[in-house]
Amino acid sequence: MNDTLYLDHNATTPLLPSVLDAMLPYLSEHFGNPSSDHALGRRAHGAVENAREQVADLLGALPDEIVFTSGGTESNNLAVRGSTRAGAHARRTIVTSSVEHPATVQPLARLESAGWKVTRLSATAAGSIALGELASSIDDTVALVTIMLAQNETGALLPVAEAGDVARAVGAVMHTDAAQAIGKIPVRVEDLNVDLLSLAGHKFNAPKGVGALYVRRGTSLSPVLLGASQERGIRPGTENVAGIVALGAAAVAASTELVERSRHYGDLRDALWEQLWAAIPGITRHTPEHALPNTLSVSFPGVLGGDVLAHAPDLAASTGSACHSGAEHPSAVLTAMGVAHAEAMGTVRLSLGHGSTAQNVLQAVCLLTRAFRAVA
Ligand SMILES: Cc1ncc(COP(=O)(O)O)c(C=O)c1O
Repeated sequence: MNDTLYLDHNATTPLLPSVLDAMLPYLSEHFGNPSSDHALGRRAHGAVENAREQVADLLGALPDEIVFTSGGTESNNLAVRGSTRAGAHARRTIVTSSVEHPATVQPLARLESAGWKVTRLSATAAGSIALGELASSIDDTVALVTIMLAQNETGALLPVAEAGDVARAVGAVMHTDAAQAIGKIPVRVEDLNVDLLSLAGHKFNAPKGVGALYVRRGTSLSPVLLGASQERGIRPGTENVAGIVALGAAAVAASTELVERSRHYGDLRDALWEQLWAAIPGITRHTPEHALPNTLSVSFPGVLGGDVLAHAPDLAASTGSACHSGAEHPSAVLTAMGVAHAEAMGTVRLSLGHGSTAQNVLQAVCLLTRAFRAVA
């Protein structure tokens, strides 16, 4: 398994050694409950509060604006469901994009069945939204605008700061799902004009099952889970102390290494695209210019992406399709962008990350070219 060439960092990332070192003591000797009023409890509480500061620093937020959760899915659910429950809602409209992750799509669909109006902005060919359509969809009936910062399949970057401006002008709450952006590009809540922002630890070298929601001071948010008073009652439940400590350590690494990471990923991604384009006639690219530096979504002509990857078993990457009820369907995101069925089915997403090298790019091009020739 260790010989696998891992180019699937948008699916999940390995732990950094510094992150593992930071969290391990909280799985062994420092096992206290942060709510306990004795030395072990206070030690755990201190570690959680230290991590809160580290995550806040990464985002340019205040520590009391960070709510720890179990990951991106929970953060998005809390943002969407919590902000639409809070307060008296004369406002019954939510505006979103057509390229969101299911962790946003599904809670919105639930609200829609409960009578909310959900306006889905159409996707541009570059996998983003058109600001003109956003502006004409916003009025004082809008309670929430939720637009992701970086698209997980294509890497497209969406104009969240501009959307935040428009949302604020009508008094709507602005949420962004930044799960894919953290650790790859700068993410600062003041620059983005957001009230709520979701992040997921395992997308930036912390473990799975931990994440956070940034909640700007003064934003009304009702809890989705009910219980004791952890996380100020917004997210009750005994804290995942080791995971939270790891999230803090990953946040520190993400901010110190950000500029270097971004440049390195961008160089590798551009080399990967140039070499694939030279090796495979007819290959097309879904990742636009304005995108995460680590992501490359491409379509192999006349074949299924799944078949290409099946012929490259030493390469870990993702396809642009999903299996529902035993049949392969093209990705909803690519379809929303207007990508034709056959082209969407030929898609493979390659995503670079910590430890990816120029050598890995050469290997990936070699494995993919060989696999494509075997199935074409
Ligand atoms: C953009 C985006 N949002 C949310 C999630 C869900 O995060 P988690 O796996 O931590 O629940 C993911 C993970 O695939 C994602 O890519």
